[in-house]
Parts: sequence; structure tokens; C-alpha cells
Amino acid sequence: MTIPEYIKTKSIRKSSWVTCYDYPSAQIIQSSPIDGVLVGDSLAMTIFGDPNTLKATTELIASHTQAVAKGLNEKKILIADLPFLSYRGSLDKLIDHVLLLMQSGAHGIKLEGAKGNIKAIEHLVESGIPVMGHLGLTPQSIHQLGGFKVQGKTPEQWNTLIHEAQLLEKAGCFSLVLECVPFELAKEITQTLKIPVIGIGAGHETDGQILVWHDMMGYPSVYTPKFVRCFGNVQTLMSEALASYHDNVINKAFPSPEESYR
Ligand code: KIV
Repeated sequence: MTIPEYIKTKSIRKSSWVTCYDYPSAQIIQSSPIDGVLVGDSLAMTIFGDPNTLKATTELIASHTQAVAKGLNEKKILIADLPFLSYRGSLDKLIDHVLLLMQSGAHGIKLEGAKGNIKAIEHLVESGIPVMGHLGLTPQSIHQLGGFKVQGKTPEQWNTLIHEAQLLEKAGCFSLVLECVPFELAKEITQTLKIPVIGIGAGHETDGQILVWHDMMGYPSVYTPKFVRCFGNVQTLMSEALASYHDNVINKAFPSPEESYR
């Protein structure tokens, strides 16, 4: 599916998205019906074990985007995250960051927040770059937000989020991620915008859902939010495989003669 085709799904059906950071997982996604893939700055947490996303750099996301792009074909949309502060400097610097991500195989980029980003978004859209917005819980502002907390609970925050969503759409975003907001607010934003809204911890009324790969596959994690559902149990599978390998080595059952050279 191309990005213009994806925008048209809004009035037709829900879309499914996952994050991905490596080649073999991308190959598995490629042979699934999943619609879109995000190389998120969440890789700082899922891959590197950081407590937040702030240490992800454009170079790091670009190198994981290259790995993921090799496992996908053009039928899956591939978006890469612009990391912390990379879009808050000059437009020239921003273009360097975006160039790296697009040349790594991304079809578009995602950035967090609306305030102070509108000019950057307009510049990217005018330059032919599809931009995905991200509102609600924006993890790059973790210290300002005071933690991974539900956003949009007061009437003031509620109205601000609706206004910001409209600003992002007006600036040319092709889609919007809404993270960790009350489902009633997500519903209102979804109904207000013409572009598809993808929820994570935003209830069932959005146009699509995204989950972090490691969360949905059941990898061990330091913190699992209430909105995560484990659709797989990789931790059990891998633990069983490791225990079985260990037993086979200890009991001299591995390697067998067939697995050895003469
Ligand atoms: O970085 C990420 O994985 C994200 C998703 C949670 C949407 O931004």
C-alpha cells in the first residue's frame, strides 16, 4: 500500500501498525497482513534498555531503518522516527536528519508535538516528505510531562489536543499517532480529522492501532502499560529453547553425528 492509498483507508477500514527494529522481524511482518511499520525511537528502550527514548539518535534509527527496509517490500509503509530535538534546530539541519532516514529506506518520518513544529512540517511536506504527527503522550517530552501518564484529561488539555491535531492536519501531516489519551477524546479527534488517526492506548475508536513489537510479542520489559496486550509469548518460547539447548549440550545429545562433519 502506498501512503496516498493508506490515507483513503480512513473511511473504509481500520489499519494495523507495529514498530520494528531488525531484519528478521521485518521479514516476519512482511509475510503478515500488517499495514504499516514504524522504526520508533522506542528502540532506545526496547533494544538498548534505556528508561526513556532520549538517547536514540538519527544515525541509530537510520541504521535500524536500513535493516528493517531490507526485510520489507514496497507494499508495507515504513516510517522512521525523528529523534529527540532533531527537528527543533534549523530547517537545514532538519533536512540532513530526514535525508539520512529517507535514504535508509523510510517512506516518511514521524515527529512529536505540534507547538513550534508547524514550519518544519510544512517545509518537509513541501519537500515531498510524508510526515506523521504524534500527540498525547509524547515520550520525548517525558521530563516535562512528569512520566508516562495519560494526557488530555483536563478540559484545557482536551481542547489543546483537538486544536493541535487540526494544526498538524492543516500543516500537511498524512496521519496522526495519538498516544495514551481517553478514548472519548481519541474518538472526537478521529471524527474531526480527515487523515487517519492511529491509536496506542487511545481506545478502539481510532482509525488504526499501533503496538510496540517487544510489548505485543511478550518480551520482558521494565514497564508494561495498561494498554498493552501480549499477542505472543516470545519470552516463554525463548526460555524453553534455551533450557532445551542447555540440556542437550549437558547430556551430549547435541550435536548429533548428523550435525557433525567427518
Ligand atoms: O517510538 C515509538 O515506538 C512510537 C510508538 C509508540 C508510536 O512512537
